[in-house]
Amino acid sequence: MTPLSEGKAKRLWATENPYTLRMEFKNDATAFNGEKKASFENKGHLNNEISTLIYGMLEKAGVPTHFVRQIDDTNVEVKKVDILMVEVIVRNFSAGSYCKRTGIEEGRAFSQPIVEFSYKDDALGDPLINDDYIREMGLATPEDLAHLRKSALQVNEILIDFFAKCGLKLIDFKLEFGRLVSDPSVIVLADEISPDGCRLWDLKTGEKMDKDRFRRDLGGVMEAYQEVLGRIKAQG
Ligand code: TMP
Repeated sequence: MTPLSEGKAKRLWATENPYTLRMEFKNDATAFNGEKKASFENKGHLNNEISTLIYGMLEKAGVPTHFVRQIDDTNVEVKKVDILMVEVIVRNFSAGSYCKRTGIEEGRAFSQPIVEFSYKDDALGDPLINDDYIREMGLATPEDLAHLRKSALQVNEILIDFFAKCGLKLIDFKLEFGRLVSDPSVIVLADEISPDGCRLWDLKTGEKMDKDRFRRDLGGVMEAYQEVLGRIKAQG
């Protein structure tokens, strides 16, 4: 059996249902556009658990997503979508590429969330693009883009609250969206939501609880993911 597609942290497999896929979480971790690579035992399982709980919570809050059900430790069933080639990043505090681009120090609170877009293209290193690029490249219509921005901000509000209850500060995160293959007029939230694609800092100590531990060689990567999962579970 070969997967329909394989990314840096997940594989997609066909199911018997033409409108769903099996999404498998791998133990692989990459950073800096795949330049840095490692594998962490149990990472796929932890991200599956975290992402499943977050997707369940978002669905309950009325956000349409690709999520169908958890299959096992490392697999979920998701609705088949055509992924939009636009990644949506929301930032509440300065970090990562924002600091690199601006020279501003890490951890500064923004007066309002920043929404930014990047072109989902590994060969190009997912470059930052704006609304005009997206229109001219035909990646999304202006109407769809307005919808992505609104949905991302809504998800941000929900996640800020949710993580605060877990004693975590949501610094930034990346979202992906897709059009349902069963009804292309509907755009839903897709991909995973886990410490791989979010920056989360402990509210009290400011300790990093996400993939920055791997990016920056801080150690204790899976311990941090495990702690995030424990807090999410305790939160209900
Ligand atoms: P950045 O500061 O490197 O632009 O990242 C912003 C957020 O988006 C951070 O939480 C990590 C996440 N992200 C991904 O999930 N995938 C990516 O390819 C990149 C560049 C960032």
